[in-house]
Amino acid sequence: MKQTQRLDKILAHMGIGTRSELKRLTKGGAILVNGVKVKDSGMQVNPDTDLITVNGDPVVYREFVYLMMNKPQGVVSATEDNRDRTVVDLLDSAYSPFDVFPVGRLDKDTEGFLLLTNDGKLAHNLLSPRKHVPKTYFAKVEWEVGEADRAAFAQGVILDDGYETLPGTLTILSVGSESVGQPSEIELTIMEGKFHQVKRMFQAVGKTVVYLKRISMGPLTLDESLALGDSRELREDELIALRNAHEV
Ligand code: URA
Repeated sequence: MKQTQRLDKILAHMGIGTRSELKRLTKGGAILVNGVKVKDSGMQVNPDTDLITVNGDPVVYREFVYLMMNKPQGVVSATEDNRDRTVVDLLDSAYSPFDVFPVGRLDKDTEGFLLLTNDGKLAHNLLSPRKHVPKTYFAKVEWEVGEADRAAFAQGVILDDGYETLPGTLTILSVGSESVGQPSEIELTIMEGKFHQVKRMFQAVGKTVVYLKRISMGPLTLDESLALGDSRELREDELIALRNAHEV
């Protein structure tokens, strides 16, 4: 990050106000830098070392935010959409100035772990196919899922477009049955993220995913105390683990 930046840019980024509102606050003497009233809201300051206060409240500057969301069904993993609500629409308005975006996509009908950030570099690293960041999904699948499927996924399967997947790890939690209308319950860990990959891997072995939820991505696991649609900031230890995960 640059050492000094325009004060109004920093304050706008922190959601304190628009440039014109900041001009007004400046005129009213509400903004101080290191205890001195600001005359020009365009002045250069160093947000790491200069103490900025607005109406007496210190402004704690940060460039990036990192959020974990429990994505519900019915919303799209995008920042804008003409038809549907997006995951960004679900966030608290305090995050609006940060311009966060989802790191990768979950289908509209998929639930679970979704990372949102404005840290483009971290997102790029996590999504890079070369980094093989594991993603684990819980799914309900019609109908019986068995050893043959586990072995097929362990080899890699051919998707409908001819792409051969990397090996995936299938754990069968319960074996379903069509006669009693009970889907199988499984967990699948994959190292890549092709479009509809989990659904298409099951399609490749003649089965249908009827419910899909992502439960982890790299070192991060969905916080099950988050209700569907809720999100929270990553803890420091989670962020460190995430950074280390894509550096290996
Ligand atoms: N695989 C899918 O099929 N859908 C998702 O949303 C994620 C992985």
